[in-house]
Formats: sequence, C-alpha cells, structure tokens
Amino acid sequence: MLRLHEVHAGYGATPILFGVSLEVREGEAVALLGKNGMGKTTLMKTAMGFLRPWRGTIEFDGHSLIGLRPHEIARRGVGLVPENRRIFPGLTVRENLELGLSPVRGRSSALRRERLSNVFDHFPRLRERLDQPGKTLSGGEQQMLAIARVMMAGARIILMDEPTQGLAPAMVRHIREMITELKRLGVTVLLVEQNARMALSVCDRGYIMEKGTIVFEGPAADLRESAITREKLGV
Ligand SMILES: Nc1ncnc2c1ncn2[C@@H]1O[C@H](COP(=O)(O)OP(=O)(O)O)[C@@H](O)[C@H]1O
Ligand SMILES: [Mg+2]
Repeated sequence: MLRLHEVHAGYGATPILFGVSLEVREGEAVALLGKNGMGKTTLMKTAMGFLRPWRGTIEFDGHSLIGLRPHEIARRGVGLVPENRRIFPGLTVRENLELGLSPVRGRSSALRRERLSNVFDHFPRLRERLDQPGKTLSGGEQQMLAIARVMMAGARIILMDEPTQGLAPAMVRHIREMITELKRLGVTVLLVEQNARMALSVCDRGYIMEKGTIVFEGPAADLRESAITREKLGV
C-alpha cells in the first residue's frame, strides 16, 4: 500500500536518510523503531510530502507521491499524526475535528455528520469535550483528538509518530487498544515508537532504523526475540 524504495532525504545539504526501503501492506500495522535522532520522523515527513526526497521512490496504492504537496497526499488517504500531537490548542475540539476535513474534496454537511458520528463511536470522550479548547484536554485526550482528526480526513493509512510519548501507563494501554481498533476497522498503521515492547505487541512486522538506514526487519515476533532489538534499541 505504501512503499518507499531507496529513499534519500535530508535538511538543506545535510543527508539524514540514506536509501531507506520500507513497505506497509494494506491492513497491516508496522512498527518503525530506533533510538532518538535516527531519522524516523524525517522518514514520516518525507512520506507525507513535507520534505522532498533527493532520490528514491515513494508510492501509495501504486502511484507515486513524489512532488505532491502534503494536502494532496492527505487527500489520497495518507494521514499523519505528528510527534507531540500538534493539535490547535486555542481551537475547540469540534473546530480541530472539522479542520481534519479540509483535505476532503467536495465535503458536504452529510459527510461531516457521518465522519463526526464515526469518530464519536470510537472516542466518546471527545463528544463530551466538543466545545472545550484543545489545550484543556489531557495529553491522552489530545492524542485521541490528533488521531480522530486524520480519521475525519478519511485516512486509509495512518502514520503515527510516537503517540505514547509522555503518557501515563493507563493511557499507553488505551492508545494500544486504539491501534488494535483501527486495524479492526481496516485502517493500516505505520507506528513510530520508543516503547518497542508496546509497538511489537500490537504490530505485525517491524523495522529497526539506525543512522538513516534500515538495519533489521522482520515479523514482530522475531523482533521481540532478537538480540538485535536489544542491541539497537537498548531495551
Ligand atoms: N528541521 C531539521 N533541520 C535540520 N536537521 C534536523 C531537522 N529535524 C531533524 N533533524 C536532524 O535529523 C536527524 C534525524 O532526526 P529525526 O528524523 O527527528 O529522528 P528520530 O525521529 O528518529 O528521533 C537528527 O540528527 C536531527 O537533529
Ligand atoms: Mg522523531
């Protein structure tokens, strides 16, 4: 569904990704693991069109994403839940959710109602907080809102960048359940996590990234057992 092949990218003249190849098949949850500063966020930003790759190919549903702008990539069904959540703190929950619809072409009020009602089925807490400013939500609720926002856009694959960062254990479990639920709904997930144990317990496959390259890939069960996981992640 999403395929990166030999992708090189960086900031200014500084290379960060050195020929990364990675694939996420429809319906899978795939973990992208690695220590801080290895290039995981850069990979997600490149897939989403915020950075243009220097070399290599990126395809979604067999079509190239190279040169498309982020909102065009979102319109095709790729959703990014960025690091540190990045909701709009001064806007209400409702306004944040409605902004999620902005990549959708020809959005109608019927579509808005349908998507909102779908989001409320999964995140009843957001319904209770609809008219509160985003900044008054807890960290976990803000993470729910960030995920709900890409669901509003109709994302078929969600790129999640460290969704459990800074959250209490109960909320980490909740995020894990959310990922399971997204899979059940047929949403495909690429998950960047520091919490390798959590990621490998919910994902089907995983990749380990080190200094801008993939150094290991395999089924989640293999990564759970592998000495390489301990060596590369220090867990
Ligand atoms: N906007 C930026 N400009 C320049 N360098 C950056 C920028 N963002 C990240 N980097 C650098 O790119 C490298 C990889 O960062 P990042 O992709 O955020 O890693 P990770 O998500 O794996 O922690 C780091 O060395 C970081 O300092
Ligand atoms: Mg990062």
